[in-house]
Amino acid sequence: MQPKQVIEVYKAKDGRDVIIRVPDLGDAEGLMNYINELVDEDAPILTNERQTYASEIRYVADEVQKILEGRLIALVAIAGNKIVAHAEIRRGSGRASHVGTLGIGVLKEFRNLGLGQELIRLLIELARSQGYKLIKLEVYAGNAPAIHIYKKLGFVQTGFVPKMGSFREGYEDALIMCMAL
Ligand SMILES: CC(C)(COP(=O)(O)OP(=O)(O)OC[C@H]1O[C@@H](n2cnc3c(N)ncnc32)[C@H](O)[C@@H]1OP(=O)(O)O)[C@@H](O)C(=O)NCCC(=O)NCCS
Repeated sequence: MQPKQVIEVYKAKDGRDVIIRVPDLGDAEGLMNYINELVDEDAPILTNERQTYASEIRYVADEVQKILEGRLIALVAIAGNKIVAHAEIRRGSGRASHVGTLGIGVLKEFRNLGLGQELIRLLIELARSQGYKLIKLEVYAGNAPAIHIYKKLGFVQTGFVPKMGSFREGYEDALIMCMAL
């Protein structure tokens, strides 16, 4: 087994130590538990489907392969032995290979401790060093904490997609936000 690629140990606002590192093939179960916790919460992310261990093994294998090929920057945050956050920038292809698409999730018990902003700050730094020129993302219009941190870190709204996501309450619009590097 390869040694873990630790990026930093982040001191959360409540004093807890959170290890931020690159995901590896041993993370399938942790990532499955992480994504299923977000799905059960009905969090404002793209997916609303629970994952199985088998699907998560495929997902992690694909992530590791793409990281090796320079097509993905991914980070997981670990507190205790639990994955409490995941964040990534996915490289576009062809004429958009200088463009990265950002995605992030932090489990509820670890929100508002600065972790989301720290993960995005690290991703931006890594993206710059890997030659990305633009980061884009989509966020549901009602996701106030996410929009707050994206704006704070320098993203600007460049677009709007009506009724982009379906939630229990109905459809929700999405904003497109970008940051030039
Ligand atoms: C969005 C998300 C990643 C933020 O992560 P986090 O670790 O809580 O972020 P941080 O602790 O770094 O920062 C939270 C900020 O939101 C602010 N905030 C919290 N609730 C807020 C609200 N209702 N409206 C506006 N801002 C709010 C906090 O004050 C803090 O800002 P500050 O540092 O300027 O005070 C996290 O809420 C999350 O994972 N949500 C569910 C999944 C999701 O929405 N993913 C993004 C999809 S685009």
